[in-house]
Amino acid sequence: MDRYKLIFDTDPGIDDAVALLLLHAMPSVDLQGITTVFGNASIEDCTRNALYICERFGLPYGVFQGAGVSFLGAEEEDYPDFVHGRDGLGDVGFSPPSRLPAKISAADFIVQAARMSSDPIEILAVGRMTNIARAFEIAPDIKSKIRRVVMMGGAVGVAGNVTEWAEANIYGDPEAADHIFMSDVPVLMVGLDATLMHQISRTQLATLTDDLGDAGEFIWQIKQHYLNFYASKGVFDGFPIHDATAALAMIFPDDFEIAEGDLRCVTAGDQRGRTIFSERHGGHHQVALSAQGTTLWRRFNALMHAQFGVDSSKTV
Ligand code: RIB
Ligand code: CA
Repeated sequence: MDRYKLIFDTDPGIDDAVALLLLHAMPSVDLQGITTVFGNASIEDCTRNALYICERFGLPYGVFQGAGVSFLGAEEEDYPDFVHGRDGLGDVGFSPPSRLPAKISAADFIVQAARMSSDPIEILAVGRMTNIARAFEIAPDIKSKIRRVVMMGGAVGVAGNVTEWAEANIYGDPEAADHIFMSDVPVLMVGLDATLMHQISRTQLATLTDDLGDAGEFIWQIKQHYLNFYASKGVFDGFPIHDATAALAMIFPDDFEIAEGDLRCVTAGDQRGRTIFSERHGGHHQVALSAQGTTLWRRFNALMHAQFGVDSSKTV
């Protein structure tokens, strides 16, 4: 099987945590490293969470701490603790990990990994795209080594989740997103149009909890906060796993309706953070416009059982 090299750029974050476990379970992914960015919590908390997950599950990946402010240097005033908890992982009270982040920054790691690799590298970005924009800015030569940026973020035909127009990852750093869109690097955008169509129900969560041993216990622990948030919005059964759905889109594009065209991001005014997509055959951006939720749940469940399942006689 062909394995391709991937950098995971993330702001863990509850759905980011699930995506990291899923990436570890994907045999075709050769994960080069985890780069962290501020977003669901401060950069220190997001980095600690990535290290915690790696330590708890024995994941052998380096963690590279990235941006704590936006591409233009703006600080965050309010982290979304009502969604992800004050610590970014649902305020379960996990003990601090003993592992430390690597000595170089996320942007420097992206530059180094791209330059040193003989094959093109893919980046899965499930937070603000600040680290990638910085890497492209300090080393424009690496753009030719990036096969594609797959990103969770944006909304095209549905409302945003921060404003009517804007989704959280894009709203948090629109200039970084537009910097990526303006580069010549191919992008696959997996935004709310697709991720909201793949939701996990309480019954499905219970299956994971029962079958996946410590990974199931961990997902159950961190999801309690998330479930409460969705319940407060009137959604009592089912929650999206945005970042894991973007990871699935890399490997199973046929489970999505994907259109080609050109993406830009609005950086000023009331629509700041809006992603604008102009469909055009042959455009070097792609957008997932919908997703087959039932099939994706089957894929997710099968991969997670194969990696973390405690009863090997049980197939899904
Ligand atoms: O809008 C959903 C996205 O924002 C997800 O990536 C979530 O983790 C947060 O970063
Ligand atoms: Ca995220």
